[in-house]
Amino acid sequence: GKYRVVSTKSMPGTRWINLLIEQDCRVEICTQKKTILSVEDIIALIGDKCDGVIGQLTEDWGETLFAALSRAGGKAFSNMAVGYNNVDVNAANKYGVAVGNTPGVLTETTAELAASLSVAASRRIVEADEFMRAGLYDGWLPHLFVGNLLKGQTVGVIGAGRIGSAYARMMVEGFKMNLIYYDLYQATRLEKFVTAYAAFLKANGEQPVTWRRASSMDEVLREADVISLHPVLDKTTYHLVNKERLAMMKKEAILVNCSRGPVIDEVALVEHLKQNPMFRAGLDVFEDEPYMKPGLADMKNAIVVPHIASASKWTREGMATLAALNVLGKIKGYPVWGDSNRVEPFLNENAPPPA
Ligand code: GLV
Ligand code: GLV
Repeated sequence: GKYRVVSTKSMPGTRWINLLIEQDCRVEICTQKKTILSVEDIIALIGDKCDGVIGQLTEDWGETLFAALSRAGGKAFSNMAVGYNNVDVNAANKYGVAVGNTPGVLTETTAELAASLSVAASRRIVEADEFMRAGLYDGWLPHLFVGNLLKGQTVGVIGAGRIGSAYARMMVEGFKMNLIYYDLYQATRLEKFVTAYAAFLKANGEQPVTWRRASSMDEVLREADVISLHPVLDKTTYHLVNKERLAMMKKEAILVNCSRGPVIDEVALVEHLKQNPMFRAGLDVFEDEPYMKPGLADMKNAIVVPHIASASKWTREGMATLAALNVLGKIKGYPVWGDSNRVEPFLNENAPPPA
């Protein structure tokens, strides 16, 4: 291979590897056993000559790594993730490294997990499973694990981009929930969908669903029964859900987070879960991954899963493929991807060239 491409982790499928190999690349996959690679580990992987790197959201892609990649002749980096809060895009610009992410292929998979957590929280599925396995079930009872009916309740979506909109559609259509959403941008297609669906229900003699775009996030928190967070993590969304905002929510609300942990003040959430036993949380992400804040693991009213929202086979192979195509496209000087969902070929493509 003429070009050297490093992947900091083994990734699902073989398509991504073949695509690179077919286009003159030598692919090196890090086999280190430790889960999270340090900056030093990655500098060693980059070595003296490296044309592009596929990295992971657990890695700190800042000034140091982009400087090292640039010194090694590298021009491309792709995160194998849609989120890129672990990537300092300005630093990448400074060193002339194009940065890609993997949107589109994980939209439905991620939304499906948010929907799963919503249902699991409302029907207390995890608690009920523990109860069963503990041998506590001694017969059907009218009061046993009674939860809430989603139908007719309101789902609140904060951040109605690709994933938030897909989640909203699933909850509205799947469970006939009313929708309230907050986003800086109007979710036009989502609004059209819900409007059409409401008309369909009405035509069939059923109660039509309603929807509203809220003018503030607090409005969503106050009114919704199930709230799912889908913003990007940046300075403006850090601790977006804090003590004050938790207090605005209904006592029996469900809060789901499949975005990034620091969007919620997790210490405040643990306290809120303690004070409000009927409040429930479904969490895929945590403030200090892989750790949980003290007390969270003991809360029966929280469901916790290890950042698996994009973990379907199809999606993970797609993410690996897109990440490879991002790097390949930059190295070869032309875009080689064919995914029409892909709206951000390179996150910093329009940045000024390096000085
Ligand atoms: C996963 O968290 C991603 O951002 O793709
Ligand atoms: C419950 O199992 C029912 O039959 O209502």
